[in-house]
Amino acid sequence: MKYRVLGKTGLKVSILGFGGIPLRRISDKEAIDVLNRALDLGVNFIHTSITYGDSAYKIGQVIKERRNECFLAVKVGGRTEKEAKENLKKSMKALKVDKVEIAELPINATAFSQVMGSNGAYIAFQKAKQEGIIDFIGVTSHDVDFLNDAISTKAFSNLITPFNYAANTARTKLLSFAEELNIGFIAMKTLGKGGLPHVPQALRYVWNHSIHTAIVGMNKLSEVEENVATANNFQPLTKEEENQLQKIAEEVIKANRLSSSGAVY
Ligand SMILES: NC(=O)c1ccc[n+]([C@@H]2O[C@H](COP(=O)([O-])OP(=O)(O)OC[C@H]3O[C@@H](n4cnc5c(N)ncnc54)[C@H](OP(=O)(O)O)[C@@H]3O)[C@@H](O)[C@H]2O)c1
Repeated sequence: MKYRVLGKTGLKVSILGFGGIPLRRISDKEAIDVLNRALDLGVNFIHTSITYGDSAYKIGQVIKERRNECFLAVKVGGRTEKEAKENLKKSMKALKVDKVEIAELPINATAFSQVMGSNGAYIAFQKAKQEGIIDFIGVTSHDVDFLNDAISTKAFSNLITPFNYAANTARTKLLSFAEELNIGFIAMKTLGKGGLPHVPQALRYVWNHSIHTAIVGMNKLSEVEENVATANNFQPLTKEEENQLQKIAEEVIKANRLSSSGAVY
C-alpha cells in the first residue's frame, strides 16, 4: 500500500481509503470479511456515518479488535450544537469507540453562518476536540466554490468532496488552494458511485492529483483486492490513458448520466 500525509492533520493515510456506504447492502459477515481484508492489505482510513444504514455498526464489529490499525473519519450531521453533539455521540456508540480522528461537518453556503455561529454545530466539534473525543474537524460539500470559502476561514484541517474523471471541477477550482493551505484532501465518488468504467484508471486518475486518499465504496473481497493492487502498483496515467478517460467523461456528460453529486448512472 502507498500512503500520503493528510495535509495538516499529519495522519499518514493509505491512498485507498474505505468508503462505508456499500456495507449497508451486505450481511454482517460479508461486511466483516470485506473490511478485515482491506485492513489486512494496508487500508488504514475508514469513512462512515450513522446516515449510511448499519455501516457504522458493522465497522464497529471489526475495529473493536483492530482500532490501532485505522483512522476513522465520520460525517456528523446537525446544524445546532445540540444536534451535532447528539449525532457525534450516536456515531461513536454505533462504532463502539471512545474517539474518532476526524469528524466532518456536511455544510452548504446557506447553512454556513448558522453552523459556525454561537450554538452552531461547529461549537460542538470544538468542545469535542478539547475533550479529546475528536482530533480534527473537517468539512464536506459538493460545492467547490463554497469549499474554497470554507477552507479560507482556517476552521478546517481537511475536506471531502466528489472527484472523479467525469466530475472533476475540483481539479481546476479547488485542488491548488487546498494544497496551498495544506488542507487534507479526501476524494469521494471516485468511481461515480460505481457507474464509471475503467476502475483502475479511474483510481489512478485521482491519485495523479494532489489528493491524499480516495474513500472508495467496496462491498466485495474482489473489489478490495483489485483496488489494493491498483494502489500498490500505482503509476501516473499516460497521456493516451488520460485522453481515453476524457473521451468517456464527455460521453457520460453528453448522455446526461452524470449527476450533480458526482454519481454516474
Ligand atoms: N461526505 C459526504 O457527504 C459523502 C457523501 C457520499 C459518500 N461519501 C463517502 O464516499 C464513499 C464513496 O462513495 P460511494 O461509495 O457512493 O461511491 P464510489 O466509491 O464512487 O463507488 C462505489 C461503488 O463502486 C463499485 N466498485 C468499487 N470497487 C470496484 C471494483 N474494483 N470494480 C468494480 N466496481 C467497483 C462498487 O459497486 P457495486 O456496489 O456495484 O459492487 C461500489 O458500490 C462512500 O462510501 C462514503 O463513505 C461521503
